[in-house]
Amino acid sequence: MIFTMNGKQVASSHKKNNLFNPREGGNFGVFETMRTYNGEIFKLDEHLERLEKSAEIVELELQCLISEIRKYILKTLELCDFDPVRIKVVVTDGNVLVKCEKLEIDENIYNGVSVATVPLERRNPEAKSLDYLESYTAHYEAEKSGSFDALLVNSKGMVTEGSFSNLFWVKDGGLFTTDRNILKGITRQTVLDISDCEFKEINVEELKKADEVFLTQTTREIIPVIRINGKEIGDGKVGEKTRELGRVFKWSRDRDSNPGPHPYHGCALPTELSRQDKNSI
Ligand code: PDD
Repeated sequence: MIFTMNGKQVASSHKKNNLFNPREGGNFGVFETMRTYNGEIFKLDEHLERLEKSAEIVELELQCLISEIRKYILKTLELCDFDPVRIKVVVTDGNVLVKCEKLEIDENIYNGVSVATVPLERRNPEAKSLDYLESYTAHYEAEKSGSFDALLVNSKGMVTEGSFSNLFWVKDGGLFTTDRNILKGITRQTVLDISDCEFKEINVEELKKADEVFLTQTTREIIPVIRINGKEIGDGKVGEKTRELGRVFKWSRDRDSNPGPHPYHGCALPTELSRQDKNSI
């Protein structure tokens, strides 16, 4: 693990390392979680943009320029001799802390995960602020029941997002996601860019009747959900549309470094893709 503070490497035992642990709490700041593919940070600019927006929402005055934060992140990444890297940057009103760790993913999740609904609304849903205790509380509650993640349900009974992920579902061939009072995920936006998706609200009972459900998140990309509160979704297996989107997601992610045949079968092509990539299909 590599840990830097304002661009300088410090011991992982440094007390500021606590800021990466939300349970230590009590700190005012914003954060982002990113990952690398072959040494490159996925959508770094988008993450930095969201970091700036989070700071605006919680009224944190950044003490340095975004370009400086970017430099600190890249400098920390240079010290890593492992890949893929999970990068977490925490910005407080005095410091920029960057932690890089080897990203380990349990591949079993791609066979489908169980989730549990938890009634909970995040105070500043559009911000990744250090005040993230609600998400952690929901997540730990879901984990205790053997679930991979929690689905947050607001006071109107509507499912908004996962505790650390965004929510999508497929019903009668259509793809849907929520759009209000959520963190606008970078992976969510990537899925929106490569698909035809509608914004909709949904309650728990309707969601359980969906044909397919999946979550999106930077570190783990597209995670199929096959059970909600113990009830099987569809036939209890990873759905075809989820698989297709997973393939297109990977293709779109790698297209600059490794353009190959387009793996999109059956679904309507979004305008951007049809214009830019019609020759590669
Ligand atoms: N979490 N919703 C919430 C509440 C989140 O915390 C996250 C990200 C997402 C997905 O956003 P993105 O696609 O940009 O990762 C949605 C990360 C993984 C975290 O907290 O570490």
